[in-house]
Amino acid sequence: MEESLSGNSKIPVREKTRRNFLVYLVGSSLTSIAIGYIFPKPSQSREVDLETLCSFYPHNSRCQNYLPGVEAQDTNSKAIKVDALLATATPGIPIPVHGLPNDSVDYLIIKDGPQIAEYAISPICTHLGCTVKWNTEKNRFICPCHGSQYDSLGRVVHGPARRSLPLITVVVKQNQVRLVGTKPAIDPR
Ligand code: FES
Repeated sequence: MEESLSGNSKIPVREKTRRNFLVYLVGSSLTSIAIGYIFPKPSQSREVDLETLCSFYPHNSRCQNYLPGVEAQDTNSKAIKVDALLATATPGIPIPVHGLPNDSVDYLIIKDGPQIAEYAISPICTHLGCTVKWNTEKNRFICPCHGSQYDSLGRVVHGPARRSLPLITVVVKQNQVRLVGTKPAIDPR
């Protein structure tokens, strides 16, 4: 049996219908993916919102049972307990901690009190990106690459770097120190 042809096209109608259906199928799948990406499901968006909210406002009533970020560990990979840390911490002496991805070391800032500051130093030199280390004798972070130096809050005291060391957010809650890999709401320097 001969199939009918559509318009000027030499494509049989059945073939054309099948092709239109496939185009429709691919188009609607891509549209669904795009919508899911732009408007995440309520449970996903709630999770994202709480993470952001509780990083900046950890004592908000919605954050009562939510701990943002990751738990800080000491250099022996043991979870840090706030009471134990403050029993031996000295104001002005940064404390190296782990926890964020890539096994990076960040430095908690100890304020008078002693208290743990709501921010920590990420030791990435702002000159060309080498990792700086805390030098207790000189009371400074020193870059091994070209000699930049920073004080205990990460402010430049010797070039060639011109900008302060980056900060990450710290949340102290339920006797834990939580590290959040984003800048704090306010840079106190
Ligand atoms: Fe640190 Fe150049 S990368 S001083």
